[in-house]
Amino acid sequence: MTRRRALEYHTTAQIPFPAEARCSMATEAAPGPLPLILVVDDDPGIHEAFKAVLGGSYDLLLARTGQEALDLTASRDVNLVLLDIRLPGMDGIEVLRRLRDLNEDAEVIIVTAVRSLKTAVEAIKLGAFDYVTKPFDVHEILALIKRVVEKQALRKEVLYLRSEVHRENPSDDLIGKSPRMQELYELIARVADNNATILLTGESGTGKEVLARTIHARGGRAAKPFVAVNCAAIPAELLESELFGHQKGAVTGAIHTKIGKFELANGGTLFLDEIGSLRLDLQAKILRALQEREIERVGGTRTVKIDLRVIAATHRDLKKAVEDGAFRVDLYSRLNVVPIDIPPLRHRREDIEPLVNHFLAKYNREFNRRVRGFSADALQTLKEYDWPGNIRELENIIERAVALARGEVISRKELPLEISLLGAETTVEEAGRKSLALHEARTRFEAHYILSVLERVKWNQSDAARIMGLHRNALAWKLRRLGIGEELPA
Ligand SMILES: Nc1ncnc2c1ncn2[C@@H]1O[C@H](COP(=O)(O)OP(=O)(O)OP(=O)(O)O)[C@@H](O)[C@H]1O
Ligand SMILES: [Mg+2]
Repeated sequence: MTRRRALEYHTTAQIPFPAEARCSMATEAAPGPLPLILVVDDDPGIHEAFKAVLGGSYDLLLARTGQEALDLTASRDVNLVLLDIRLPGMDGIEVLRRLRDLNEDAEVIIVTAVRSLKTAVEAIKLGAFDYVTKPFDVHEILALIKRVVEKQALRKEVLYLRSEVHRENPSDDLIGKSPRMQELYELIARVADNNATILLTGESGTGKEVLARTIHARGGRAAKPFVAVNCAAIPAELLESELFGHQKGAVTGAIHTKIGKFELANGGTLFLDEIGSLRLDLQAKILRALQEREIERVGGTRTVKIDLRVIAATHRDLKKAVEDGAFRVDLYSRLNVVPIDIPPLRHRREDIEPLVNHFLAKYNREFNRRVRGFSADALQTLKEYDWPGNIRELENIIERAVALARGEVISRKELPLEISLLGAETTVEEAGRKSLALHEARTRFEAHYILSVLERVKWNQSDAARIMGLHRNALAWKLRRLGIGEELPA
């Protein structure tokens, strides 16, 4: 507890405070709403004094009575309460006791002229952060407030980090030299530093999330959290709590107050992934949050100001969802400020080789291997394949190939069957366009056909042979000839 006395002031006069004390607070201005401080004192001079000391660096609310203080705490997301003990009506200790039920996160500093050790001890027991006597030292109170704000920021950061530990390191750079990727790099550079909402579209595995992280990392909010929510992965009934948080006891099983992703991302970037699968009622709530720039926890009465950048992503056609009535048009236009579409990998095949090399280096490092590369025909096959799972699929294939590689160079046979045998989906037209020799086209078709039958019967060779009208031994021979046999599950 700090009880030092220095700058004396008279309540109605302007408070003398050293200029540098305010400047040092102001320089720490970072994106995000200012911390909200509630000053509770029946002396208007104290209100004025705190306005002079804290204004600019903090948002202030002023209350003259305990009841006013409680009403404000119930409706606003107060970070810190500077509380006088001797108040008309309800005294400070009673206010403190009731505050705890309204907002368990708000910190309280008792600021009082009553020098009573008993009250101080009681206040601390009731959870006050500290206790200062009037007249107070400006440096001291500023330092205390700073500690409170830092403690709260730290607490949020711990929550944020806890939600992030299971994620892979995102530091990998974006790879791609195709004209479309070059355009994307330029676009990223242009949008990173403003706050415009971004809507990322692209097939699964095209890199929507890496792109969102890159935009965040290159912008002015990089030091603040990047928080991702996958709207499709969380059951609808839990999603609201996940996004907005909930108050203790608000829903069954809510034993503690939970901070939602909007609050965790405050000051930073909120990545709303798979936004296309959001239920209509939640779409309305998100729209409201974005319009009002504030949210309410489930079961809560207070509003929390939010200041963040939103990046939304979907692999669905949102415009069509709007036409079908599955997606709100107002939310769509609010999200679609800067639309960015990432093309599928098969439309930018120039990127395949650099990506292959990138993942080769990555998995050599990871598995401590020294694979030098792919044989010419293996690489050709990788370039021809259509990559329905895009970059994620490519990465998985390279990971597997490096892990299982027998020598320094990975051959075409070491690639998974669907890729090594078929290359791109071979239709009759395609075989003609690629000028395949008849026997090559026939082999590819045969392999494609056999594999699809095998898949259908879950690799039961007897069933497959019956469907194909072949003897089981004839099928086994064909499989060996096509190089499929060795890899068949027993
Ligand atoms: N340009 C790129 N350079 C390097 N790696 C990339 C690139 N794009 C994507 N990746 C990698 O591909 C994988 C898939 O990317 P990401 O998760 O961002 O895709 P997505 O579009 O969000 O997919 P989904 O719709 O399935 O969630 C990740 O491992 C990512 O690191
Ligand atoms: Mg994703």
